[in-house]
Amino acid sequence: MKILLNRTQVAEGVARMADEINAFYNNKPLTIIGVLTGSVVLMADLIRVLNMPLRVGVVQARSYRGESTVRSELVIASESLPDLKDRDVLVVDDIFDTGHTMARLLKEMQKLGPKSLRSAVLLHKRGRQETQENPDHAAFEIPDQFVVGYGLDYNDFYRNLPYIAALEADEIAAGRST
Ligand code: IMP
Ligand code: MG
Repeated sequence: MKILLNRTQVAEGVARMADEINAFYNNKPLTIIGVLTGSVVLMADLIRVLNMPLRVGVVQARSYRGESTVRSELVIASESLPDLKDRDVLVVDDIFDTGHTMARLLKEMQKLGPKSLRSAVLLHKRGRQETQENPDHAAFEIPDQFVVGYGLDYNDFYRNLPYIAALEADEIAAGRST
């Protein structure tokens, strides 16, 4: 495993993004929605440095990969969402890869009538995007590597690492066979 962003770098990136978000909303009340499970570590650090009146909610997005299909189906469990009608809403996820997860989430939440709807991610992976819209805030651009830590998982492990690391090909292969 190779460390891509150490604890200090991650903390600096989160602080930078928080400054941007604070400046953008300029003390207006905000509803922030964390995408489970990957965003939990980022959410914990980020919400404590946001300074507007803040409501916090979560939504679960899970992809199920069928046995024979490559393309996975995304299931969004939106029952846990708080009221978004006429609110300024910011959706927070760990990573923006192809962009399909964020695009689907924004589409679902748009139906709930928010006043504004924007997105923030810790990582924006370069070279993999398949959607038109970019995330509104991203702490880091990273190369096309599979990364874990600070909330990001591989087969549900590694979320607790306090840094972001890239998995080597043999570690990915080893994980697949278990
Ligand atoms: P997208 O829909 O392709 O943008 O993928 C977003 C989701 O895929 C994220 O919420 C992550 O759960 C997962 N993902 C994408 N790339 C990585 C990675 O490098 N490490 C861990 N999870 C990833
Ligand atoms: Mg995930």
